[in-house]
Amino acid sequence: MPHPVLRRLRTAAATALLGATGLLPGIGAATPAHAATVHVANPFVGATGYLNPDYAAEVNAQAAADGGALGALESQVAANPTAVWLDHIGAITGDAGHLGLQAHLDHALAEQQGTTPVVFQVVIYDLPGRDCAALASNGELPATAAGLTAYETQYIDPIAAILANPKYAGIRVAAVIEPDSLPNAVTNQSKPACATATPYYESGIEYALDKLHAVPNVYDYLDIGHAGWLGWSTNMVPAGQEYAKIARATTAGFASVDGFISDTASTTPLSEPFLPDSNLTVGGQPLKSANFYQYNPEFDEYHYDTAMYSTLVSDGFPSTIGMLVDTSRNGWGGSARPTALNSGPTTVDTYVAANKVDQKPFRGDWCNINGAGIGARPQAQPYGANNPIIAFLWVKPPGESDGDYPTATHPHGDPHCDPNGTQTDGNGGTYPTDAIPGYDVPAGQWFPAQFQQLVQNAYPAFGGSGGSTGPTVPSGLTVTGTTSSSVSLSWTASTDPAGVTGYSVYRDGAKIATVTGTGYTDSGLSPATSYQYTVTAQDAAGNVSAASTAVRATTAASGGGGGNAGCSAAYTVANDWGSGFTANVTVTNTGTAATKSWTVTWRWGGNQQLTNSWNATTAQSGTAVTAASESYNGALAPNATTGFGFQASYSGGNTAPTLTCTAS
Ligand code: BGC
Repeated sequence: MPHPVLRRLRTAAATALLGATGLLPGIGAATPAHAATVHVANPFVGATGYLNPDYAAEVNAQAAADGGALGALESQVAANPTAVWLDHIGAITGDAGHLGLQAHLDHALAEQQGTTPVVFQVVIYDLPGRDCAALASNGELPATAAGLTAYETQYIDPIAAILANPKYAGIRVAAVIEPDSLPNAVTNQSKPACATATPYYESGIEYALDKLHAVPNVYDYLDIGHAGWLGWSTNMVPAGQEYAKIARATTAGFASVDGFISDTASTTPLSEPFLPDSNLTVGGQPLKSANFYQYNPEFDEYHYDTAMYSTLVSDGFPSTIGMLVDTSRNGWGGSARPTALNSGPTTVDTYVAANKVDQKPFRGDWCNINGAGIGARPQAQPYGANNPIIAFLWVKPPGESDGDYPTATHPHGDPHCDPNGTQTDGNGGTYPTDAIPGYDVPAGQWFPAQFQQLVQNAYPAFGGSGGSTGPTVPSGLTVTGTTSSSVSLSWTASTDPAGVTGYSVYRDGAKIATVTGTGYTDSGLSPATSYQYTVTAQDAAGNVSAASTAVRATTAASGGGGGNAGCSAAYTVANDWGSGFTANVTVTNTGTAATKSWTVTWRWGGNQQLTNSWNATTAQSGTAVTAASESYNGALAPNATTGFGFQASYSGGNTAPTLTCTAS
């Protein structure tokens, strides 16, 4: 499962505008087992995930062998749903050590509790000329017309026939379709194997979508690589066009595709909590110019999926598409993980090195990565019901190898899986492969040392009583008020099967409080100073959620005594769809005299551009914005508040600016 970072712009596909938009009938809750098959908006809501007995056996054997504290942590992994990989035709019928597809589905029926449906995750992974950019997971079918026919008739047709068995109609089947293939079609055309394979990838995926979409309880998710692969706009834009071209070529058009999945089998973190803004300047340079990012503005999967969602919608996909993230190996916990912002370094490279949680030496490293950990637990709606990211899944089963490398005793494998080998970045840079030293394990096979590392470096860490999926990420974090010395925050409660026990509040990356409610006032602050806040949730089992989206607040200027008029302004993004957003600003009279008028100013950190505003007269010049009160809202009694709002467009990062408020 390679993820090369080679950049190459592919000629945009012709985009004739046609085809149905697929508005899916939405039902929210559990489906009774006897009900007619329905296709719900988010299949992961109100459902449980299939626990693959083959994988549980691998995990439990390792936990028993290791025993002790490590074994106890390892055994918790078995309680999490993972995907079944149909990685060759023979996997459909199975063998002595592996259940076939029917046997898995029968197990899924047996796992169903009451009327709560089971989601069965299956990876469709056998295209002709598979894994064209690497040598670790080359498949059994050649990139030829005969290979495509075999794919259609011996692989997709039997899978679709089994899934269409009415016996399985109550199972929600989430199909992850052909990891890496279309990203390779976009970025690796300079490799002959990819140029040859691409037409077969496109035809094969169109065929798979047609056959799978025809089964009403199947949900189709196309693989979109990860932030470190398609994050550059020169890759993301042609990728959006490629996905739209594929969807339009299917019988049902855009309705064939339920959504997209990022980070399959990769290690790009969900969030870089201390690097939330790729345009932040350090030493006069934007962080994205650091060598590690190579001008890729998408540092993490949250920002990448958000940007990809709006790209795909602008290319014609309906806004109902759901984004998924494979969080099975992108945790980056353990002692190497930074725990607070280090604002000391003065160059982009040293600043990024001190603050990134992704510990890879090179972002393009992909094989059996040393130091990675299991990431967020599988969960539905991790950012609430209105976020395009509809679930976290574990697609790559943690502990299964990415691939081996050629040696004197075996010729197969990929040099990028050699712990002593190197990777190049396409710009002349050479880096270690970062494969775990001392091992040579073929793709898909159990890799004990990797599993041990992944458990030990899990983030959130394993612990407590286990079995919990962990709390959902707190959503809706909002600044509800500011004074010259305090900032008040509120957020929406997280949910958790084991019960949420509290929230941790972070100011500029440092934990400042643990609270049990959904609000907090941070006091003792300096006047006229900007602070950034995030919140995490924890549960009774000791699980900690990923950090919320960050908000920024600026305290009011001091010296409001003697009848002075002073004011503060707090900024909240109301809605952000990746290429634009709306925001509301609350203005508070913090002085002791009434104001006649007020003016709020700020500078954007990125390329945000105002498009319209309300309840203030606004102007933008370069990155500088001025918002002046209207005739009807300039007068504020001491402590009184008013507000204004605006809409803006942007690309790349959208960090909240630092506001300055002046009153007369
Ligand atoms: C391998 C597959 C394997 C899957 C899950 C892929 O990298 O190519 O053979 O089933 O990982 O471990």
